[in-house]
Amino acid sequence: MFQRKIVIAGNWKMHKNAAETVAFLEELKKSGRDLGASCEVMVAPTFTSLEAGVKAAKGSNICVSAQNVHWEDKGAFTGEISGPMLNEVGVTHVIIGHSERRQYFGETDLTVNKRIKAAIRHNLIPVFCLGETLEEREAGSTFQVVKRQLVEGLGDCAPESAEKLIVAYEPVWAIGTGKTASPEQAQEVHAFLRLELAEYRGVDFANKVRILYGGSVKPDNTRELMSCPDIDGGLVGGASLKVDDFLGIIEQAS
Ligand code: PGA
Repeated sequence: MFQRKIVIAGNWKMHKNAAETVAFLEELKKSGRDLGASCEVMVAPTFTSLEAGVKAAKGSNICVSAQNVHWEDKGAFTGEISGPMLNEVGVTHVIIGHSERRQYFGETDLTVNKRIKAAIRHNLIPVFCLGETLEEREAGSTFQVVKRQLVEGLGDCAPESAEKLIVAYEPVWAIGTGKTASPEQAQEVHAFLRLELAEYRGVDFANKVRILYGGSVKPDNTRELMSCPDIDGGLVGGASLKVDDFLGIIEQAS
């Protein structure tokens, strides 16, 4: 059985300026933990804090991610940031298709697909988010929804290896609500996504892709979630903003 390395990723959304980003990373580095030894650690600050974040993370195993990328390299796209710009700043990952982007900023499966392709083209690892809403879950369409999001989001994307793709299952009803999916509920969807990934690029590829769970991950529910066979880490919002909580999650996941 292939051993997938756990990823603990902090999605900071529209929180923390550059100074706060640096302070957080300095504190994390000072914790004395061998970050990156047993799991990969990543944080995703806002665009204006990326450069400071990359500098502060230097010399550690902490990866820095952006929260979005445009599909064109340059052009008349007010408010957007391109892959080459992210390359210049030095980030390694980019979150794509988060439910808040889908809900508030008109992100669709098609735009998600274009952004993932741009990320791959510029050697950025996409953290590709998907997940059903409460209405969709209650209507019994969870699997249909996540399958559509996965298949259309990946479409003709061709990550050169499974290590260059991270999928994050985030049930929308669990994000920022304190309502975590039960380990059984999450595992069921993760296993389903892995089967779909096998359809897309074969079993070998599917077995190597990390599928993270996101939605109210906290230190006290991490161990149970991460012990599920198809859950390979967490995409953490609220609990990634405090060093103690984030370290607690890393600790529990290790
Ligand atoms: P949460 O957010 O941990 O605050 O629920 C997760 C996310 O939106 O990625």
